[in-house]
Amino acid sequence: MLDDLGLVIVFSDVELAGLVELDTCLAKLYEQMQSEPHLLHPSVHEMAESFTQGNACMILEKESFCPVAFARLIFLTSSGSDNWYEFGTVFVSKNYRGVGLGTVMYQIFISKHEKLGKKILGTTTNPAAIRVGQKCGFVMWKRRDLPEEIWRSSCVCSINKTGPSGPDRCRLAYGEEQAEGEGLCYFRLSPETNLKQVKS
Ligand SMILES: CC(C)(COP(=O)(O)OP(=O)(O)OC[C@H]1O[C@@H](n2cnc3c(N)ncnc32)[C@H](O)[C@@H]1OP(=O)(O)O)[C@@H](O)C(=O)NCCC(=O)NCCS
Repeated sequence: MLDDLGLVIVFSDVELAGLVELDTCLAKLYEQMQSEPHLLHPSVHEMAESFTQGNACMILEKESFCPVAFARLIFLTSSGSDNWYEFGTVFVSKNYRGVGLGTVMYQIFISKHEKLGKKILGTTTNPAAIRVGQKCGFVMWKRRDLPEEIWRSSCVCSINKTGPSGPDRCRLAYGEEQAEGEGLCYFRLSPETNLKQVKS
């Protein structure tokens, strides 16, 4: 599918070597991300760090090397022998939305990291991201049904988003009495993570 669209997915700076500068690509994506209300807006440096550590992916046009999509895993916490990550900064350029790139990143990138034993969750207030997650087998959880250290490590939004009571009574937290209306924040576990979490 990527091939048909003239696109390629890369997972490391080694794959970019000599073709295009990582920071140039990320700066282009960063600019586009600024108008997105559902993103937490990491810096170019933070995105580059994830990428060079092997915890990110990027989709580029094959001919021009113009970057059109990005996603990364952000380390959250260790719980017992498990390392938990958040699937975040998931972004597709506006002129490439709706053709399946979000789905590709959810499927290829996530399964690659699940195989490495990582526990992966996603949080989002974006209905399109919820839909992509559903298509890819992510399972919704109420955050308080997860171990506290795990959901707390993910709940780092500013008071502008959570409301004055902060993360404990976040006004966006799906499944909690103080949360109501549209734009709620949904916790979702990746398919493998969900299976293991249900069993344990
Ligand atoms: C979320 C995002 C990554 C999805 O990327 P994408 O490449 O368009 O995703 P896909 O094409 O694989 O699938 C999109 C799906 O969402 C659906 N969708 C789009 N807008 C929707 C909406 N408002 N409500 C519900 N579903 C919606 C599409 O119909 C499609 O589902 P379908 O295949 O069943 O028709 C992209 O919209 C984006 O970058 N948004 C801005 C950044 C952002 O908010 N990221 C999420 C932060 S947590």
